[in-house]
Amino acid sequence: MNKKIAILPGDGIGPEVVREAIKALNAISKRFGHHFEYKEGLVGAAAIDVTGNPYPQETHELCLWGDAILFGAIGDPKYDNDPNAKIRPEQGLLAMRSALGLYANIRPVKSYESLIDASPLKAEIVRGVDFVVVRELISGIYFGKPRGRSEDGKHAFDTCEYTADEILRITEKAFQYAKNRKKKVTLLDKANVLATSRLWREVVSKYAEQHPDIEFESSFIDAAAMYMIQRPKTYDVILTENMFGDIISDEASVITGTLGLLPSASIGENAALFEPIHGSYPQAKGKNIANPMATILSAAMLLEYTFGWIEEARAIENAVEKALEEGIVTEDINKGQYSTSQVGDAIAANILAG
Ligand code: IPM
Ligand code: MG
Repeated sequence: MNKKIAILPGDGIGPEVVREAIKALNAISKRFGHHFEYKEGLVGAAAIDVTGNPYPQETHELCLWGDAILFGAIGDPKYDNDPNAKIRPEQGLLAMRSALGLYANIRPVKSYESLIDASPLKAEIVRGVDFVVVRELISGIYFGKPRGRSEDGKHAFDTCEYTADEILRITEKAFQYAKNRKKKVTLLDKANVLATSRLWREVVSKYAEQHPDIEFESSFIDAAAMYMIQRPKTYDVILTENMFGDIISDEASVITGTLGLLPSASIGENAALFEPIHGSYPQAKGKNIANPMATILSAAMLLEYTFGWIEEARAIENAVEKALEEGIVTEDINKGQYSTSQVGDAIAANILAG
């Protein structure tokens, strides 16, 4: 089948890891008889350098052209170290999420047997961890208005706001995922303090009552930050608002031992974007040492979530797992071993070998 994929390599190691994910997609098209058409666009610091805008209009149009978007990373230290920078690469990411309506951010966390000892947690806590964070991505305190500073500069404010409809649409997504998984949803909120959290709890609890086939619990975000380290295995689908989801998904990402393995999806009504969660890792830029697996696994999510191609997605996941088992890994997992492109080649070869 013919599919169009918008490619946004972005900044830092983005271009290197995206290149390896395209190798994997090409191997899939060969093995399964599909055809992918790729078109590349600028985003983040790379886009600011050329156009002055981290999410230019041409990139937005490219995103709408694609059946799906494969994204690398955003961010450049030259902006992080400049508190007066008016335009920042991260604004491109937020503008893109908002303009494309990508309201559901899906971040799966799964332990790999060959990496159990890479985790900072004890093996018996990590073994068998398999959950997914479903984070609301285009509302809450990230986008609420008013936001800013008073004229004298001594008073700053952000607004956290949610509507029942915004909560309901992401709740539906979370329960849908739970249905195909271990059938449990945990809502994380701060309903003992925040009005928005109380609305979340009201809307989600009501929905849960109508879906008794799914086990439902809610938990305060501060307590959950603790449980996630003590007993991560008890989670299946974690549902939460934008900023709590940002924080808890970083915590979740260390459980399995390496950030280099975690993919993500950001899904809206009319667009879907897939990216590794590790960010731009500027220290490794251009060195051919970054782990491409998270981006390759993001390509697997792309095939499954956008096209429903489960067999193709599993073929990529199995190819990654085989590389892990054979020790064909980058230096974040095993020092002095294989380069980014060697790992990508090995995974593409595994896909073709079936
Ligand atoms: C993430 C990142 C972004 C966020 C930043 C880069 C704006 O931390 O995707 O989790 O806060 O959402
Ligand atoms: Mg984050």
